[in-house]
Amino acid sequence: MHPLTEKILFYLKSHTNNYVSGEQLSRHFSISRSAIWKHIQELRQLGYEVIAVPHLGYQLGGIPDRLFPYEIAYRLPTKFIGKEIYYFDNISSTMDIAHSLAKQGVSEGTVVIAESQTKARGRFQRSWLCYKYKGIYFSLILKPKIHPKSSAIFTFLSAVAVSEAINNSIGITVEVKWPNDIILDGKKLAGILTESESETELMHYIIIGIGINVNNNPQQLIDTAVSLRQYKKESINRIELMRQILIELEKYYLLFKKNGSSFIIDRWRSFSGTLGRIVKIIQDNKTTVGMAVDVDDDGNLLLRKDSGLVEKINTGDLIYCR
Ligand code: BTN
Repeated sequence: MHPLTEKILFYLKSHTNNYVSGEQLSRHFSISRSAIWKHIQELRQLGYEVIAVPHLGYQLGGIPDRLFPYEIAYRLPTKFIGKEIYYFDNISSTMDIAHSLAKQGVSEGTVVIAESQTKARGRFQRSWLCYKYKGIYFSLILKPKIHPKSSAIFTFLSAVAVSEAINNSIGITVEVKWPNDIILDGKKLAGILTESESETELMHYIIIGIGINVNNNPQQLIDTAVSLRQYKKESINRIELMRQILIELEKYYLLFKKNGSSFIIDRWRSFSGTLGRIVKIIQDNKTTVGMAVDVDDDGNLLLRKDSGLVEKINTGDLIYCR
C-alpha cells in the first residue's frame, strides 16, 4: 500500500461516522482531488469498501477480511509487540522468514503473518495445514535474556495468551493440553511451535509460531481438529482476534519478566485440561502411562505411574487415555 493511501485510510478510520469531502482530504494532505481519487481506488482494489456520495464525500464502509498490518497495528495498545509487522499472502513458512529477520537484527516484537503457507511446520517437523484467509498463522520474534534451557516456558506463556485472547474476545472457553496444544470441544484448535537460536549460556532470540483454525468449515479440517467458526456457528473477526492475541502476548511476556515462570505456569494450570488425567506419553522409543499430576516451573510434566513413582517428562506426544 502506498504510504499516503495508508494515511488516507487512517484519516477515514478516524472519521467513520462522517463523510469526508474530497476537498477536505485534498487540503489535509496537500494533494489534488484527482490524486486523492487514485488513493481511494487503491483502497478499493485491496478490498476496502469506500462509499462516495456526491456533495458529501467519502466514508469507509467495510474492511476486507485480510490480516493487513495496518489493520492489526491501527491504534494497537502495545509497546513493542506488533509495532513491526511483515505480511505475506503466501509464503513457505513464517518461521523461516522470522529466523532470517531475527538474524538481520530486527527489533524485538516483530511479527510475521501469512494468509497461507506452503511449508508450514509443527512440532517434530510435522506439517501444519493452512487454509488461505481462514486461519491465523504467524511468528513472533522475542529476545528474552534467559538461559537457553528455560525456553520451554514460552510455549506455556503463548498458550495462556492465546487462550485468554479467545476467551475475552470471542467468549469461548478453551483448554490447554501439554505441551503445546489448544483444545476446544475435545479437538485441536491451535498449535504452538517455539524455536530458538542460542549459544551455550545465552539466548539470541526465540521465535513463537502460532497457528489457529479460525473460520475453516468442517471440510477444511481433519477429524481431530476444530475451528472457532465451526464451534461458534458464526464467522469470527480475524483482525480483532489477532490484535487481542498480540496484546495478551505482550501482557504475559511483561508479567513473565516481572514475576518469573511460576506465575505463567500457575495461569497455565488454570486453563489446563491435562492435569488430573490418565495420559499416555509417546517419545521416540518409549511409551509411558500415568496420571498427569502437575507441571513444574520449567514446563516438565510430572507423571505419576502405577508404581507410585513420579517421572519428569520434558517432551513427547500426549494422548488422553480416558
Ligand atoms: C503444532 O501443533 O505442532 C504447532 C503448529 C504451529 C503452526 C504455526 S502456523 C505459523 C507458524 N509457521 C509455521 O510454519 N508453523 C507455525
